[in-house]
Amino acid sequence: MENSEDLFAHKSKSWDMNSKRVKNAQRIAELIVKNIKLARQMEIMDFGAGTGLLSYFVAPFVKKIIAIDNSPSMLLEFENKCSEFACETEVIAKDLSTETLERRFDGIISSMTMHHLKDTLALFHKLYTMLEDGGFIALADLDSEDGSFHSDNTGVFHHGFDREALKVIAQEAGFKNISFDTAGTITKPHRDFTVFLMTAVK
Ligand SMILES: C[S@@+](CC[C@H](N)C(=O)[O-])C[C@H]1O[C@@H](n2cnc3c(N)ncnc32)[C@H](O)[C@@H]1O
Repeated sequence: MENSEDLFAHKSKSWDMNSKRVKNAQRIAELIVKNIKLARQMEIMDFGAGTGLLSYFVAPFVKKIIAIDNSPSMLLEFENKCSEFACETEVIAKDLSTETLERRFDGIISSMTMHHLKDTLALFHKLYTMLEDGGFIALADLDSEDGSFHSDNTGVFHHGFDREALKVIAQEAGFKNISFDTAGTITKPHRDFTVFLMTAVK
């Protein structure tokens, strides 16, 4: 991976201490398990895995989770708790806005990461090529918001996503059976933010 600034270095150690964050990841994982037929032979990529909050809750249902992230500090936290995961794990440092991976997965899961990549169509093309035929994506992120979710918007390229607009992008990249569900709500003192789960197949 190219030497780029680790935007999560100051947050990685305390990332898992935020109970709303953990609950959000758990709710997303529960919805993935409900909406996707996972199997114990599957190898799944967690795109923007961070410290592994989503991976942890999906792990009991799959063979292996491959964590992809461009933050070495977040991946270090992931590695520190690998032994607690109920499946095999592998950690790969990659910036998916500039790099790709010559590998294919049975599925790609993600939570709260898409808004950090500027070119969503390019990302969807990339995810498509990294899937086995018939493979799935299950991507969670914020619905369109007013820009007040993050206290600091450095590295944030999208203030959430409009579901219909995202569906058009996914179709353009080749995905089929695209559907959306609401995974839950993140409550902040000034307002609530809803989180969607988008699922689709190659
Ligand atoms: C908001 S955090 C979410 C982490 C985790 N999925 C969770 O729900 O706790 C976003 C993660 O995406 C990663 N990320 C941001 N841009 C990325 C990129 N271009 N390629 C790979 N990972 C990226 C960040 O380093 C960070 O770990």
